[in-house]
Amino acid sequence: MPGNKLLSERAFALEPSLTLEINARAKELAAQGRDICSLSAGEPDFNTPNFIIEAAVRALKDGITRYGPVAGDPELREAIAEKITTVNNVATDSSQVLVTNGGKQAIYNLFQVLLEQGDEVLIPSPYWLSYPAMAKLAGATIRYLPSSPLTGFTFDIEGFKNSITKKTKLLILNSPGNPTGRVMQKQEMEAIAEILRCHPNIFLMSDEIYEFLIDDDQQHTSFAEVAPDLSDRVFTVNGFAKGWAMTGWRVGYLSGNSKIVKAAIALQSQSTSNVCSFAQKGALAALRGSKRCLIEMARSYSDRRLLLSNGIKEISGFNLVKPKGAFYAFPELPQNCCGSVEFCKNALEKTGLAIVPGIAFGDDRCIRLSCAVSPEKIKDGLYRLKMSIDNILS
Ligand SMILES: Cc1ncc(COP(=O)(O)O)c(C=O)c1O
Repeated sequence: MPGNKLLSERAFALEPSLTLEINARAKELAAQGRDICSLSAGEPDFNTPNFIIEAAVRALKDGITRYGPVAGDPELREAIAEKITTVNNVATDSSQVLVTNGGKQAIYNLFQVLLEQGDEVLIPSPYWLSYPAMAKLAGATIRYLPSSPLTGFTFDIEGFKNSITKKTKLLILNSPGNPTGRVMQKQEMEAIAEILRCHPNIFLMSDEIYEFLIDDDQQHTSFAEVAPDLSDRVFTVNGFAKGWAMTGWRVGYLSGNSKIVKAAIALQSQSTSNVCSFAQKGALAALRGSKRCLIEMARSYSDRRLLLSNGIKEISGFNLVKPKGAFYAFPELPQNCCGSVEFCKNALEKTGLAIVPGIAFGDDRCIRLSCAVSPEKIKDGLYRLKMSIDNILS
C-alpha cells in the first residue's frame, strides 16, 4: 500500500464533471425504463460523410497503420495551412501547424508550453468548461471576465482592461461560442487587438472549433485575420469534430507562432506522439473534398437552433440571447427560480429532461440545451422544459 498521499496535488485539484454526473444519472434512469429526453449532447448527430470514411478505409488498406511524424501527416499540415491562408485570410505555412488529438489537445499542449505557476489567464464567462481545468493543470490562475445575458453576452472590453495585471499571460476567446452560441463581431475583435497592442506580454488563444456552424447572415472572423501584426502571439485552435461530424476521429490542430508550435510538437512527441495516422487521411479528405456536406449540416443546425430558440422564447419567464452559431441555446432561468443545478436535477427526475446546468460553464443563472438532435426531440424537450419550470414555480 503506498503512503497516505495517493494522488498528486494536480490530480486532486481536478473537479468532477457536472455534465458527466447528469449524463450518468440520465442513463441510470433510462436503464430503469424511464422515458428520457436528452438535450445535453455536445456533438453532432450526423454520421461522418461517406467520402471521409472511405478515405480512412483506403488508408488502412494501403498500410497507413504505422507511427507517423509527430506534428502530423505532412500532406494534412500543408492542407490545413492552405485552408487557414485561403479561408481565414491568415498567411500560414505548415511549420506553424500542429495536428493534435482533437481541438482539446491543441489547447492542452499550448497551455503546457506557454503557462506556468503564477501566470494569469483571462477567460470570458460563460466559457467552455475545459479552459479553466486545463489552465489550472498548467499551474496558472484564472481571472474570469463575466458577461451577462442582459447585454447579449458581449465581451466586456472595460472589464478586460481592468483585469490586466503584470501577471496576465493569456486571453482566451471562443467564437462561435459554447455554451452561448454567440458569434463575435469583427469590431469587438479589433477593440481587443487594440488593447493587446499596449500589452506586449499577453498572448491570445482563439478557439474556432464551431467556425462553420453559423447562421447564413453571420460571418466567422478569425482573430488572427483581424490583427496580423500580433501574429507572434495569437494562436488558433480548430478541428474536424464539429463541422464535419468527426468527434470520435480525434483530429484537431493548433496554429500560430512556429517557435511555440515547435515546443508543443516536442511536448506531443513525449506524450502522445502522432494523431491516429489513418484518421488524418480522413481529415485530409474532408479538407480536399466538396464542401456541400459542411453547408448542409450547418443549415440543418441553423434550422434546429431556430426551432429551439423560438420554443424557449414561448415559455414565459426565460430570457434567451438568440444563439447564432454552434448548436446550443443558453437561456437564463426566470428571476424567481432556483439555481441551475437544482433546476436540472429536478427537470431530470420529474420530467425526464436531461440538460446541463449553467454553473458548469460559469453562469448559475442559465441552463444549456443542445439542438443537435431531431426536431421531434427538440419539441419533446421544449414540452418537458415547460413542465419543469411550471413544476418549480408552482
Ligand atoms: C468550445 C470547444 N472547444 C474545443 C472543443 C474540443 O473539441 P475536440 O472534440 O476537437 O477535442 C469543444 C468540444 O466540445 C468545444 O465545445
